[in-house]
Amino acid sequence: MALNTQEISALIKQQLDGFKPSFEVTETGVVTYVGDGIARAQGLEKAMSGELLRFANGSFGMAQNLETNDVGIIILGDFTGIREGDTVTRTGKIMEVPVGEALIGRVVNPLGQPVDGLGVIKTKRTRPVEAAAPGVMQRKSVKEPFQTGIKAIDALVPIGRGQRELIIGDRQTGKTSIAIDAILNQKEQDVICIYVAIGQKESTVRTQVETLRRYGALDYTIVVTASASQPSPLLFLAPYAGVAMAEEFMYQGKHVLIVYDDLSKQAVAYRELSLLLRRPPGREAYPGDVFYLHSRLLERSAKVSDELGGGSITALPFIETQAGDISAYIATNVISITDGQIFLKDNLFNSGIRPALDAGSSVSRVGGSAQIKAMKKVAGTLRIDLASYRELEAFTQFGSDLDAATQAKLNRGRRTVEVLKQPLHQPIPVEKQVVLLYALTHGFLDTVPVQDILTFESQLYDYFDLHHDDLLSHIRETKDLPDEAVLDAAIRSFKAEASYK
Ligand SMILES: Nc1ncnc2c1ncn2[C@@H]1O[C@H](COP(=O)(O)OP(=O)(O)OP(=O)(O)O)[C@@H](O)[C@H]1O
Ligand SMILES: [Mg+2]
Repeated sequence: MALNTQEISALIKQQLDGFKPSFEVTETGVVTYVGDGIARAQGLEKAMSGELLRFANGSFGMAQNLETNDVGIIILGDFTGIREGDTVTRTGKIMEVPVGEALIGRVVNPLGQPVDGLGVIKTKRTRPVEAAAPGVMQRKSVKEPFQTGIKAIDALVPIGRGQRELIIGDRQTGKTSIAIDAILNQKEQDVICIYVAIGQKESTVRTQVETLRRYGALDYTIVVTASASQPSPLLFLAPYAGVAMAEEFMYQGKHVLIVYDDLSKQAVAYRELSLLLRRPPGREAYPGDVFYLHSRLLERSAKVSDELGGGSITALPFIETQAGDISAYIATNVISITDGQIFLKDNLFNSGIRPALDAGSSVSRVGGSAQIKAMKKVAGTLRIDLASYRELEAFTQFGSDLDAATQAKLNRGRRTVEVLKQPLHQPIPVEKQVVLLYALTHGFLDTVPVQDILTFESQLYDYFDLHHDDLLSHIRETKDLPDEAVLDAAIRSFKAEASYK
């Protein structure tokens, strides 16, 4: 029998006309793969990027990769109870964390759940972990000082409220100590502090929390921690959770300090989960959007306009370098996003210069305009002087007969280095810093033996507390130097009384 092609095609057409495509879009999908903090699921066509998803066992996940056939999910918390074939349901919500006053004094994980054993946190307010940064018109320029109480920073690389200043250095160079001391110095300054610990040992975090508690700093501090033993999604999420908590206060017109200790470990966690999600690796195997990982985070620190309440988020992100290499991938990225960097060097640290700030390669691009007038006057050229002293020192190491001018420069340089040393957990108010640096730059220390400078410093503060509170409060209130003749006379009478030459 011959086939009647026309008849057949007519039949096919008839069949096609009758075909009604039916798409089944469900709110529930099925896990097709699970492992190492990530999962894939099919059937979640409507899931949004960043949406919170609930697994059958009660764990939560966050939608990351929205692909044609499936969704890549990072699992928040325990992933051992999730099996292939389990259901996973949309919640319709973007990932959020609890925010507000109730968190102050608490230690929480990146989901905002308490880990300090002090019971539930009573707050109704939440904020999305991923939020847009304030735009150009919503910002104001940085011009209020942010005092860290650390002489080397306040004098050489001043920070302003709303600034982002990178702290970069090798391991064990005193990075964390700087953050802790800066937090201690915010006591009674109306600044709320958020310390985000990423990928650190639980014991280290515990020590830091204890230090904060001992100095009464926990009363205005939130600690967000994702320790080294946590799955990488939590390490990735921690800084965003921290900044969401900070934004709540900033938009209330308050001032916040947020410390990210450290972003290198966050980048490594992000690399890990990106590779597991099969995103294409780029330089150093980081995914292509690792710049955006940090830029969208750090852009959320700002000084907002008066219409928005004039609050601020000052950020101190940390990067750990290998053998002082600040030209590595993540380091250069973050250097280019921030408003300056404080470079800590291990050779300085090991030779006893602590904090080990390297004056030559540390800068603050906006903070100078936030420095108080008195500090500007006494510390204006200190950073450059110090850098040139370091060069001169290296150059004259083997020379014997130096001319008087060089000798004087070396003399002053040595004393400058000594003056900028500072023991742990002893932040110094700005007015005292000003008096000390005034004494240094006006030559009052040139005759004091280098090894006596530390004692000189504490005696000077005591003397001023006792006899010249008027001068200290003048600096504190007018932010300018008092009459220089009076200040000179005060320092001279101190030197005479304490029998310094
Ligand atoms: N100004 C200082 N004076 C004296 N000791 C200091 C000072 N700063 C830091 N230290 C000490 O140096 C050690 C390392 O400091 P810290 O933990 O702050 O460094 P880090 O760079 O954060 O280290 P890690 O890479 O392990 O995180 C600590 O034992 C700390 O007590
Ligand atoms: Mg540290």
